[in-house]
Amino acid sequence: MNRHMRPVGDDTLVLGIETSCDETAAALVMGGYDVVSSAVSTQVDLHAQFGGVVPEIASRAHLDLLNPMVARAIVEAGVEPERIDAVACTVGPGLIGALLVGVSAAKALALTWDVPFIGVNHMEAHLYAAFLEDPTLQFPLVVMLVSGGHTMLIEMQDHGRYRLLGQTIDDAAGEAFDKVARFLGLEYPGGPAIDREAVHGDPEAIRFPRAMLHEGLDFSFSGLKTSVMNHVRKHPDVSTADVAASFQAAVVDVLVQKARRAAEQVGAKGLVLGGGVAANSLLRERFLSVCTEAGIQGFLPSRAMCTDNAAMIAAAGWHRLRSDGPTSLDAGAYPNMRLQFLP
Ligand code: KG4
Ligand code: ZN
Repeated sequence: MNRHMRPVGDDTLVLGIETSCDETAAALVMGGYDVVSSAVSTQVDLHAQFGGVVPEIASRAHLDLLNPMVARAIVEAGVEPERIDAVACTVGPGLIGALLVGVSAAKALALTWDVPFIGVNHMEAHLYAAFLEDPTLQFPLVVMLVSGGHTMLIEMQDHGRYRLLGQTIDDAAGEAFDKVARFLGLEYPGGPAIDREAVHGDPEAIRFPRAMLHEGLDFSFSGLKTSVMNHVRKHPDVSTADVAASFQAAVVDVLVQKARRAAEQVGAKGLVLGGGVAANSLLRERFLSVCTEAGIQGFLPSRAMCTDNAAMIAAAGWHRLRSDGPTSLDAGAYPNMRLQFLP
């Protein structure tokens, strides 16, 4: 039995830990919504020379960086470790070696402090990121999660009650950004590089296909990627900035139109953007104008909250602790963990 026997409430302080990919992060969140401190260290520079995340390098970097991040989160919060009521950590999906670093540390801290351990699904945490900046968000809410591994439209009916409205049938949007950037010889990571390059290009220079634009709520980006490659091979002198801008416009067109359709279909009280691709400048701009046009309440979390961080892990952990109680210390790390959707 943990020393933490009080009901989960507004004064419950959760330490969140995130090590599923290439960000090492720790944060303290009070009552599920109030970010007391948040420390994130990105390993982007370590992986840049390889053009992608190298799992072994990520695991080793997490080992080096996690203790300093936890210490920073606690020092910035100005609290004694004894004040922490629970430790939440991403248990999946993600890279197995990377996940294990966080999970082992989180369990060790929970045992040492004699507080509950909470295993958190990384995707569920992305859903909670917006609540940290706007706790007044109302259900039903449609969240569009666009990251390097996922492109999903999810209806949040309530805490823990999710319905999958649509998803990519091939590449994730971020994956398409990364692959096209690499093909164009832009630097790693590809999404921000295309975002920067597109500023100098004409988004209407090349009319790339908008796959499945008028069909349902699923996405497909692999044809677009192939189309970019074919165009560049056929027109070797084409301006890279025009290709970047036209490709970005095609992705964003599909994303915003489907997000709007999803929100209208479920009569959502709000539409929220999440995941790394939500940092894209054009997507942010178009998302807000589409929401205004459609009379939907749109919410755009800050770029820091869209990308991987531990505050969202602590927030999702607080909700899980309240609904399901602590996670067993026997739990492992689950690289292919899925979100549980309503039928
Ligand atoms: O959510 P995230 O940080 O990590 C996971 O995939 O879980 O998302 C990373 C993805 C990468 O594919 C990256 O290229 C993309 O988000 N991304 C962007 C931008 N910033 C990050 N894509 C387009 N424009 C951006 N500004
Ligand atoms: Zn993520």
